[in-house]
Amino acid sequence: MRLHVLGLFAFSSIASAQLTFNVTKAHETGNWDKYVCLTNKKFIERVPDCLKKCQSDAAKKDGCAEDDFACHCVNTQAFSDLVEPCAFPPELGGHGTCTTDELGPVRGIITDLCNFFNASLYSAYEDCPQPLSKDLTHSIIECEETVITY
Ligand SMILES: *[C@@H]1O[C@H](CO)[C@@H](O)[C@H](O)[C@H]1NC(C)=O
Ligand SMILES: *[C@@H]1O[C@H](CO)[C@@H](O)[C@H](O)[C@H]1NC(C)=O
Repeated sequence: MRLHVLGLFAFSSIASAQLTFNVTKAHETGNWDKYVCLTNKKFIERVPDCLKKCQSDAAKKDGCAEDDFACHCVNTQAFSDLVEPCAFPPELGGHGTCTTDELGPVRGIITDLCNFFNASLYSAYEDCPQPLSKDLTHSIIECEETVITY
């Protein structure tokens, strides 16, 4: 599909998703401080301006609690289906304003984020104030294979 040409959010557009993570990368110094209790408001500071509103809207609409990145990350397909058409420019099949230059760094940001949350799930959300969607997250991953690398 044209929308997935950059594959920014949908890392595997193959039919059956796998809960994937690299343990070494997840444990890199600074990650915990960067991601503990992560909210959408805090995360959008890290994405380009053209993406902020799309990111924010997608986080409210993908079925997960807005400030639950463990859920957004395992819910990649629903999330990408919302954020990509919103952010991608017409030449990439969307109706957004991001240029390919702006989108370039986003993949690394999302991979790092979701690698961390795929690996840690709710550990970094213990004792955090926001509502979470643990049931949805667990219902998604219980049907998936887990692929751990180091
Ligand atoms: C896992 O992440 C580490 C640190 O970023 C990297 O050096 C290693 O190559 C990665 N492993 C795999 C299998 O990608
Ligand atoms: C996180 O896991 C989901 C499946 O639950 C997978 O689709 C996604 O690609 C994984 N993200 C990373 C960065 O490995």
